[in-house]
Amino acid sequence: MSSAKKKYARITTKTLLEMKANGEKISMLTAYDFTLGGIVDQAGIDIILVGDSASNVMAGHETTLPITLDQMIYHASSVVRAVKRALVVVDLPFGTYQADSKEALRSAIRIMKESGAHAVKLEGGIEVKESIERILKAGIPVMGHLGLTPQSIYKFGTYTVRAREEEEAARLIEDAKMLENIGCFGIVLEKIPSELAAEASQLSHIPIIGIGAGNKVDGQVLVLHDMLGMNKEFSPRFLRRYLDLDQLLHEAIGKYSADVKSQDFPNQNEQY
Ligand code: KIV
Repeated sequence: MSSAKKKYARITTKTLLEMKANGEKISMLTAYDFTLGGIVDQAGIDIILVGDSASNVMAGHETTLPITLDQMIYHASSVVRAVKRALVVVDLPFGTYQADSKEALRSAIRIMKESGAHAVKLEGGIEVKESIERILKAGIPVMGHLGLTPQSIYKFGTYTVRAREEEEAARLIEDAKMLENIGCFGIVLEKIPSELAAEASQLSHIPIIGIGAGNKVDGQVLVLHDMLGMNKEFSPRFLRRYLDLDQLLHEAIGKYSADVKSQDFPNQNEQY
């Protein structure tokens, strides 16, 4: 068991603030189901994100836009049933918080009540301030998400690095300060220059978790299926693959199929 795992029996938003204050890096991964959620938790990951990337990874959509609130609640409740230590954060899906702050609060309440998760995450800065404030007032912890915000892909047009230009970089810093000031417990910064992410981290007292945002932030997040090597088509520069699971699964499943066809499986010891 890792020392961080022994030190914190249960991760809360308060633990994360302590980790930031002590300069301890925070690990975060996605999970969308009971089995992998349990494995990620037992491995000692601090935050499990039930990301709307489930729309791509689990359902095969091209973007994160189609996933619904009911589907997010299904994934989140499956993960929550497996988790004993990590903080479980759930993405508010596209279209459930942008229209008005009352709808945002209703969506966040459904996630908390029906899944048992510990916090929600939503994308955007000043344009969603009112929604975040209303959710926070109800006692629901909120994580922000700035930089490349995949729910706005049709506005951006591409998944390339954001905030390279001065104006967008300055806006990002302003948004990060605002999210901290209104009470968010952390912020994900996606695919921005590492120096800009470092500046955001230095300026804030809440954890800044990066994905494609360099190593001068307070923690890192990756999509589980990407870091396990299950998605060969997706290979951005920021992704480190820790397994070639795609290859291993192909081999194992191919072997099983061959064994069935050759009648090697089941053998004498594998039947009643
Ligand atoms: O949905 C997701 O997986 C995310 C991460 C990429 C941060 O938001």
